[in-house]
Amino acid sequence: MSDPAHVVWHEHSVRREDRERLNGHRGCVVWFTGLSGCGKSTVANAVDRQLHDQGIHTFLLDGDNIRHGLNATPQLLEEYGADFARRFGLTFAPEDRQENIRRIGAVAELFASAGIVTLTAFVSPYRRDRQQVRAQIERLGRAGDFVEVFVDAPLEVCEARDPKGLYKLARQGKIRGFTGIDDPYEPPERPELRLDAASQRPDQLADQVISYLRSTGQLPATK
Ligand code: ADX
Repeated sequence: MSDPAHVVWHEHSVRREDRERLNGHRGCVVWFTGLSGCGKSTVANAVDRQLHDQGIHTFLLDGDNIRHGLNATPQLLEEYGADFARRFGLTFAPEDRQENIRRIGAVAELFASAGIVTLTAFVSPYRRDRQQVRAQIERLGRAGDFVEVFVDAPLEVCEARDPKGLYKLARQGKIRGFTGIDDPYEPPERPELRLDAASQRPDQLADQVISYLRSTGQLPATK
């Protein structure tokens, strides 16, 4: 077997700056985090739509969708055999969430280095996992490339909304390790942006995200 250490990084001839010049704006990662049902996907979709309509190159990586493909659950990989599904499928156990976020961090970094405003919407409940993504993205890019957006809605509000009926199942003990119920959500201590998702509409929250990105120069003032 070849030694996995024998893989060597090499530079691309088209650099990130070249791609950003072509796009007319910088790439970055806008990382939405919050409880299930807090509105991450809705706000991220609204930001995506608005920026796209303004001619900004964006892409949205969304937890529920990514867990159908790149980070498929073991159940979805059963056609590859039980061993394969166990080995590569990702559950919601802490280590699997860590790997979910690590992979998404790596993918988001690739998108950002393609000059794309990359929006991610994952519960990403553990502070350490989010910190690791931030460190990785800031190490290879620039400070300010990672924008952590805390979509803050209290558990009671998310549970009352329960758009997928999962809180109910978690309360009945039919889902174990559900974030906010019997698995922790560790709120960001110093997010770049905190959205009050209990009292404001998604379109208002999306405006706040876009204003922030313009104010820091991540997005050009006029494009
Ligand atoms: S993360 O914790 O690994 O970041 P991710 O964002 O990919 O989670 O997926 C979260 C979505 O999966 C939730 O919105 C919910 O629909 C669903 N889900 C299923 N089981 C769980 C669980 N145990 N905890 C949280 N979300 C869950």
